[in-house]
Amino acid sequence: MEQKIRAINNLDDLTALYTETFGKNGTMTARLKQMKDLDPDARAALNTENAAWRELFKTRQTELETAALMEKLAAERVDVTLDAEPEQRGALHPLTQSLHDITTILESFGYTRKTGPEIEDDWHNFTALNTPAHHPARDMQDTFFMTNGNVMRTQTSAIQIRSMESGGVPIKIFGIGATYRKEMDATHSPMFHQIEGLYIDKNVTMRDLIADIRAFLARFFEMDDVELRIRPSYFPFTEPSIEIDMKWHGDKWLEVMGAGMVHPNVLRNCGIDPDVYQGFAFGFGHDRLAMLKYGLDDIRKFYDGDVRWIRNNGF
Ligand code: DAH
Repeated sequence: MEQKIRAINNLDDLTALYTETFGKNGTMTARLKQMKDLDPDARAALNTENAAWRELFKTRQTELETAALMEKLAAERVDVTLDAEPEQRGALHPLTQSLHDITTILESFGYTRKTGPEIEDDWHNFTALNTPAHHPARDMQDTFFMTNGNVMRTQTSAIQIRSMESGGVPIKIFGIGATYRKEMDATHSPMFHQIEGLYIDKNVTMRDLIADIRAFLARFFEMDDVELRIRPSYFPFTEPSIEIDMKWHGDKWLEVMGAGMVHPNVLRNCGIDPDVYQGFAFGFGHDRLAMLKYGLDDIRKFYDGDVRWIRNNGF
């Protein structure tokens, strides 16, 4: 028996022999059942034999298990000295990175971030913004119309209206998101992004607007200070309206955003009394600001999904 056990070299065969020996109909089991007919010496001998066999099985089982484990470890061995392919590291898209930066800055100025739907109704995108049907200013934006009269949001200014309607005043928010217009060239994409600011309270003035814009631009472009030029302009939802230019690289003026004091009609449209509350709004192109910051010249590249472009630009 001892030799038989030792000769076995896999666990399945060992289990089979064990069952043959100690199982319900096993040979040893049968002999043990006859124990009562044996004289004391023979009993003792059988007990010893039984215990010895069990011990042998156990020892062989441990040996075979260890051998199996060793074989497995050898097969799964990793050579840590081999050269590996370098890992590709991910990076944030420039629009995502600048979105984080803009959010951090405006939140530190006390603005709360808001969003709104990209498919807007006429009221929020135009009419409430003092641009009723047939108003000539509707032509300033080449709009994508849906068959049911809704539009693809042409401006984040719609978020101003939604925020005032739901939150009332005083209010200090910035809206952020995708906007859509029928235009496409190196500096225009049919889908682009805007950031909209709105601050309405009892004593908000144009000075507060310019101070916030100046501090914002300095922080965003990581400059000590920025030089601004304020030009009168026209937007239906602000009165007076201005456009803000920023001195760029010491010699050029770049237009960076539109802004103004919120038109009394807009406040009234949101149920706010313009004789008590006033404030400012501003809006700018997120893509454009990011292009300036990172020195990019084609807005369409943001949306190509070309990882090589992201990498070549060092993001
Ligand atoms: N909505 C304007 C546009 O898309 C940008 C803008 C101008 C927003 C002046 C404003 C503002 O809130 O006050 O061209």
